[in-house]
Amino acid sequence: MSESAESVDLIKLPVSKLTLGMFVSAIDKNDQGRLAIANAGQIKHKDAILKLTKNGIKYVWVDTERSAEHCGFKRKASNDSQVKKPIVTREKQQEQAQVILTEAKDLIRKVLSETFEGKAIEVAPFEALADSMIESVLLDEDALKCMSALRTKDAYLLEHSVNVAFLLVTFGKYLKLDRSMLREMAVGGILHDIGKIKVDNKVLHKPGKLTPEEFEHMKLHQVYALEIMSETKGLSQISKDVCLMHHEKLDGRGYPRRLKGDEIPLHGRMSCIVDIFDALTATRCYKEAMSPAAAFKILLSLTPFHLDQQLVYDFIRCIGVYPVGSLVELSDGRVGIVWASKDRDALHPIVKCFYSLKAKRYTEVVMVDLLKSELHIERGVSPSSLDIDPTPFY
Ligand SMILES: [Fe+2]
Repeated sequence: MSESAESVDLIKLPVSKLTLGMFVSAIDKNDQGRLAIANAGQIKHKDAILKLTKNGIKYVWVDTERSAEHCGFKRKASNDSQVKKPIVTREKQQEQAQVILTEAKDLIRKVLSETFEGKAIEVAPFEALADSMIESVLLDEDALKCMSALRTKDAYLLEHSVNVAFLLVTFGKYLKLDRSMLREMAVGGILHDIGKIKVDNKVLHKPGKLTPEEFEHMKLHQVYALEIMSETKGLSQISKDVCLMHHEKLDGRGYPRRLKGDEIPLHGRMSCIVDIFDALTATRCYKEAMSPAAAFKILLSLTPFHLDQQLVYDFIRCIGVYPVGSLVELSDGRVGIVWASKDRDALHPIVKCFYSLKAKRYTEVVMVDLLKSELHIERGVSPSSLDIDPTPFY
């Protein structure tokens, strides 16, 4: 891994020099260079140091700025830290995003099987994961967006849970919610469909519309969630709300508690919006993915009786018509992935082109910066409508 992208706030320390309170951002195993870790965080117990040694980690990268308060590192002056903002390459971000998403799916897979066996949920690993997700979004969300756009049909529950958490953090950041709120919402998002583990598999994986009886059975996932949440120690109220309110409706016709209007707080309303949006834009074995623009239309049609109208408008502004990770057709007939949108308006992202609609073949991979090009986006497209596989280009 290149050291040129290193953050000025990081120092490399042997594990033996680690003390409680230090904030570990990356590890170095057998001099392989800096490896980002998904569960970056503060050393709160000696056990964490022992675990690193046990796993053969020789050196770690400590964030001096975030460790300053506890460990006596000198904190930089605020204007200084602005000038020396960490420079992190997109490749590195993408690597880190991949680690976060893989770890998230592994963790959800584990908790699903443990819950199925009747074991209690341990909250701490989810909090660590939520922290990594927030770090990544705060730094530059584009890499995570691109990675999370890669879905597989058979792992829907895992990917939906990760995406709902990620969308809640992105939306929360847009609404300028504080970090602890983002963290609690992310944990709630990861766990929001945990009750589905107790739903009959035939109903859960049915390829097609559910019968009224099957739908009633599916709704039970929130009754199971109520039970699971009440048995989970250490879970914040906000995390519980995100899990238990994502099917409530403002007019009181939702489930499981038929909450109405002000009984559904901001984070509950946000969870309803992101849950529907992610379900609509996902490919399932029985339906193709909907484009974000089409999904926004449906969200708006569900206001104001089901969803909060103002919040839906905010969400649309937050995600943008051509979100990073989605496919677009340019005015010259090329198709590409919306690659980066940070610090630009929604209509002029950087697009990674790889296919020509005119020639009906894959082309040389080229990054087109629409701020510097005469080209423009013609429309958003779904991979299935073009019969192409964009996966290798992410
Ligand atoms: Fe649900």
